[in-house]
Amino acid sequence: MKLRLIAIACSAILVSGLTAGPVLAAGPAAAPAPTDDAALRDKAKSAGLQALPYGAGKVTNNPMTHEKIDLGAMLFFEPRLSASGLISCATCHNLSIGGDDNQSTSVGHGWQKGPRNAPTVLNAVYNTAQFWDGRAADLKAQAKGPIQAGPEMNNKPEAVVATLKSMPEYVERFRRAFPGETDPVTFDNMAKAIEAFEATLVTPSAPFDTWLEGDDAAMTSEQKEGLALFIGKGCTACHTGVNVGGQAYFPFGLIKKPGADILPLGDKGRFAVTKTATDEYVFRAGPLRNIALTAPYFHSGQVWDLEEAVGIMSNAQLGKELSGHDAKQIAIFLTALTGQQPQVMVPILPVETKDTPKPKP
Ligand code: HEC
Ligand code: HEC
Repeated sequence: MKLRLIAIACSAILVSGLTAGPVLAAGPAAAPAPTDDAALRDKAKSAGLQALPYGAGKVTNNPMTHEKIDLGAMLFFEPRLSASGLISCATCHNLSIGGDDNQSTSVGHGWQKGPRNAPTVLNAVYNTAQFWDGRAADLKAQAKGPIQAGPEMNNKPEAVVATLKSMPEYVERFRRAFPGETDPVTFDNMAKAIEAFEATLVTPSAPFDTWLEGDDAAMTSEQKEGLALFIGKGCTACHTGVNVGGQAYFPFGLIKKPGADILPLGDKGRFAVTKTATDEYVFRAGPLRNIALTAPYFHSGQVWDLEEAVGIMSNAQLGKELSGHDAKQIAIFLTALTGQQPQVMVPILPVETKDTPKPKP
């Protein structure tokens, strides 16, 4: 034990000596604490952190079948669900770049900018409710929103159904995905198929998961140090469960309100859903899985650097200024939440017929 401590203290001096001389004065306190993996794992579990299960997440009132999931994949990539014929779910939830769009706030119909940053669809099935303010109870309720939203896909349910019914392959696929229904091509069933597909968009086997399941070597010592800080500083009070967030609502600026650039005054969050004064500026704790892939951060999408986002959180939610070192270690831990990205084949969509409504710019 003694030997190990000395070794660590020496390596700390070496490291700080190489990088920034004056840091040496901080002495061994700045050195990474030796990690007792088993003890840290217990702490993580008691803080409510859980490994992401393999396989699709569970959805309610929507039996999952291959036919439905395949149809949902087509609809997710289907630009003709939008009035312009240009915008699909994948436009803003691009599965090649972490399930979001890398924009501060999304750009939709007619190049309009929406008010909020697009969250990732990856692992969204594990959120307690959908959207930054939780206004959609589940993925099938959520899917109907963007298609009708003016600044997003700007379409009408009747037009969507007419588009889908104009292509015989869709009619046949809806029939197989919703067997026994007399009129299976409906807006509701479209949403159910999309939900079934989205439930498969999960990213298991992140280094953190493999480590939590018992493989000490799956995370680096920096990631472990970052995890210890993430728990020790109190981040897990709000970011916990399978999705390391996404499970509950909290005021953004619980202790100290961030500036209006990061927390725009016009967006009162959950207040718009519940009309309860205490819900002003309340948002769902951001799910932190794959967070290293989904900059920019916060519902305003104004922060591009993960370390900076971590620092803002600590000030706003915990009232603690993090040292640069601690913010960096936590950000390094957060990279251990990047899991195996779903390998999705780009679906080939049916060709339109003379009955398919024409795109409206
Ligand atoms: C123009 C860009 C755009 C398009 C197109 C779009 N979305 Fe989104 N999506 C967003 C934005 C922005 C949000 C966050 C809105 C909010 O919280 O108020 C969001 C939120 C979501 C969420 C919630 C995730 C979470 O963590 O709460 C899901 C799921 C989702 N979209 C799926 C879809 C599906 C399915 C489609 C296609 C039917 C779609 N989106 C089309 C931009 C878009
Ligand atoms: C009191 C609850 C609370 C605590 C404590 C807390 N957070 Fe948050 N976190 C939130 C909420 C709420 C949001 C969503 C903010 C918004 O609306 O943009 C969030 C968002 C985030 C985001 C951005 C997510 C995204 O997709 O853009 C990161 C990163 C983050 N938190 C990390 C941390 C870290 C690291 C800590 C500890 C230093 C921490 N949080 C402590 C509630 C909390």
